[in-house]
Amino acid sequence: MVDVLLGLQWGDEGKGKIVDYLASGYDIVARFQGGPNAGHTLYLGEKKYVLHTIPSGIFRNNVQNVIGNGVVIDPTIMCREIDQLSTSGIEFLSRLYIAKKAHLILPTHRLMDAVMEASKGKDKIGSTLKGIGPTYTDKVSRHGLRIGDIFLSDFEARYNKLKALHLQMASAYESVDFPLEEEEKTWMESIERLRKLQYVSSAYFINKAIRSGKKVLAEGAQGSMLDIDYGTYPFVTSSNTITSGVCNGLGIAPNKIGEVIGITKAYCTRVGSGPFPTELDGETGESIRKAGGEFGATTGRPRRCGWIDLPQLKYTIMINGVTQLVMTKADVLDNFDEIQAATSYNAEGKETDEVPFDMVTNCPLPIYKAYKGWKTDLTKIRKYDNFPSELRSYIEEVESLLETPFTIISVGPGREQLVLRTAEAMA
Ligand code: GDP
Ligand code: IMO
Ligand code: MG
Repeated sequence: MVDVLLGLQWGDEGKGKIVDYLASGYDIVARFQGGPNAGHTLYLGEKKYVLHTIPSGIFRNNVQNVIGNGVVIDPTIMCREIDQLSTSGIEFLSRLYIAKKAHLILPTHRLMDAVMEASKGKDKIGSTLKGIGPTYTDKVSRHGLRIGDIFLSDFEARYNKLKALHLQMASAYESVDFPLEEEEKTWMESIERLRKLQYVSSAYFINKAIRSGKKVLAEGAQGSMLDIDYGTYPFVTSSNTITSGVCNGLGIAPNKIGEVIGITKAYCTRVGSGPFPTELDGETGESIRKAGGEFGATTGRPRRCGWIDLPQLKYTIMINGVTQLVMTKADVLDNFDEIQAATSYNAEGKETDEVPFDMVTNCPLPIYKAYKGWKTDLTKIRKYDNFPSELRSYIEEVESLLETPFTIISVGPGREQLVLRTAEAMA
């Protein structure tokens, strides 16, 4: 079976840390969508790693790691990532398998991203500018290049043809500074290096593994509210970030999906533009940003912060078929006298607990319930029973409203800084 771990908010929920922790119980960790717009942070002791394309299972020696065909790969970023890991003494290339059908991000995809974003002015999406949108657009338009194409004898001709098309399209926009020649040189050198890695059909690889009894964990990137179909369109990414994306992105059937583990922060963040009903503009938002170190792992941008949004979580639990929840960054709220959770919305004058169609021009107003803060340092606590009663009440009320249990509560960025809920604690 394939268990899935994915973000239930707008990304950066702490997927990297939790996948790294859980990976010890799996044979394979597989990324199924997204690309280097992702930044998954995890710590081994004091050392911090940020992964963009490479799955977060690489730090466990017995785990194989797959980059599935739903992922888009930038060879330059991937080689840089490989080099950084190798410098730190992490050996994983013999355990890394890349789907031949994964699409390639060309330097001119990044150029297209840049000119298109610039042309949107104040309506810009706030893209990470990694070329994600243009690469998925080419995939759907049926003229993209796949990583398996690098072995074709006419690869360079195909590259030049696509590049020429991009340059023609880009010329319709106002030009931006982009060192194309330089970028292209590094990209081509990176392609040479990537030829030496291991390539597979992710469909055969994963299905054979399942048949032989292996356990697979699919690692989501971004978050469900950034899903191309179900997110806050058009302020979304260009892939299906939800559970259904696992089937498309790895080549497995829906009946092979086992547990779906959904992650939420104890509050909520968003980076980039777009609606965010529970956003806190003032001092409280600033305090969360500071306590949580809420700055983007990929772009360094400050993340917008707000309270946890239960209608939004109910929606993403529903579309993903979430069977268990993880709450991360509970420790970030340690010093608050009071915390809040949106339990419903006022959308155009009506109270509802559903996410409305139009969040962009008519952002619903959250209706909050306040909870007493726990005012306790959680970072060293490892047992649910040792949590302050205020936190337990908060967790238990939220999970009851969400009708889904929290099985892990994370209390710090470190690998072991978490509390597992035992069966008794949940009875
Ligand atoms: P991802 O994209 O979902 O993997 O998340 P990011 O790595 O972009 O952002 C999560 C940030 O929170 C990283 O800096 C993590 O090291 C950190 N983090 C994860 N879990 C916890 C936690 O429970 N407490 C605190 N304080 N930090 C955490
Ligand atoms: P991880 O996997 C948070 C956001 C961008 C922007 C929008 C579109 O680390 O959780 P794109 O580059 O895809 O064209 O950007 O999506 N975004 C993320 N926000 N975490 C991410 O990944 C994100 N990947 C993209 O900020 O608003
Ligand atoms: Mg991230």
